Amino acid sequence: MAPMTRNRASAAGVPEPIMAVYYAQRASAGLIIAEATTPNAVGATYPNIPAIHDESHVAGWRRVTDAVRAAGGQMFLQLQHGGRVGHPETSGLHPLAPSPVPLPGTIVTPSGHRDNVVPREMTEQEIRTTVADFAAAARGAVDAGFAGVEVHAANGYLLHQFLSNHTNHRTDGYGGTVANRIRLTVEVVRAVVEAVGAERVGVRIAPGVTANAMAEDDVDDVYPALLSALDDLGPAYLHVVFADPDQPLFRTLRKAWSGTLIANPSLPWPGPLPADGGRAAAERLLAAGADLVSLGRAFLANPDLVARLRTGAPLNPIRDAHLMYVGGETGYTDYPALD
Ligand SMILES: Cc1cc2nc3c(=O)[nH]c(=O)nc-3n(C[C@H](O)[C@H](O)[C@H](O)COP(=O)(O)O)c2cc1C
Repeated sequence: MAPMTRNRASAAGVPEPIMAVYYAQRASAGLIIAEATTPNAVGATYPNIPAIHDESHVAGWRRVTDAVRAAGGQMFLQLQHGGRVGHPETSGLHPLAPSPVPLPGTIVTPSGHRDNVVPREMTEQEIRTTVADFAAAARGAVDAGFAGVEVHAANGYLLHQFLSNHTNHRTDGYGGTVANRIRLTVEVVRAVVEAVGAERVGVRIAPGVTANAMAEDDVDDVYPALLSALDDLGPAYLHVVFADPDQPLFRTLRKAWSGTLIANPSLPWPGPLPADGGRAAAERLLAAGADLVSLGRAFLANPDLVARLRTGAPLNPIRDAHLMYVGGETGYTDYPALD
């Protein structure tokens, strides 16, 4: 199950009991990668996203992992620092990013949509603190009962912002050349591996994905270099978003990565989801060398997706798309299982 932000934590980022219900309903997924969770206060993106930087967060997540384990499932926790994707009205802090390049447009905050602010360029000291915060968050996640963590270097958040020369205009050791732009992601993964062990660490990348107004000119240089550096650290898996087996880059990444590769198929976005939930696309990725596949929206709408795919039963369609990010049970824990 791919990570999906659902905004059901408390305002302080503590996972609420309803999240234990939602994830336990989906425990038959081979592995649940839980939603993007902030490793520190300034990295918070949107209202009611979960956090993992104090004891209350660890205790809240433990309720979730206990419920999933009791239902026979395993979870990793995705660690996400938003970088420029964040707002002072949400986090109480001014967003930090590689460079003062704002996200265009508006962002949702607790008091509604607000214009994005120009983020402040991280100092090297703030970069070091951020790396340490990821490592501490990983330890917190393991304390909370997660089997491991997924470092989020995809979809236009902080680490992805460092990878692209559109959002990274730095002239120090973290900007300019490909070797410099991949440096922060490699440092974060190394620190997290040292904190909890390589077998407990995954990394998510999204080469060329334009989420959060991302643009990348040199994916054919950046990602092979990144994978070569990460491969040496030996994490449990690499997770590629919107993977397309017809694109040469997917085959390049597969060849460059000696470990487990999870591919998230490239399905119509924002929709509609195909009636098979992505099964045919997933099978094409497996044939092209992926070891595992992840699915997102099909799991959102089908707590027993695995049983449905096994038996060929029809899938629940996603309803009330506008409820996907809003609190409460509706559109969250009320999707029916077959029996
Ligand atoms: C409601 C929702 C929330 C999402 N939140 C996250 C997230 O927190 N972290 C992330 O890496 N991707 C996130 N994604 C992207 C999914 O992990 C996945 O890549 C995407 O939905 C495509 O897979 P699918 O076609 O099977 O849904 C989200 C997607 C949806 C629909």
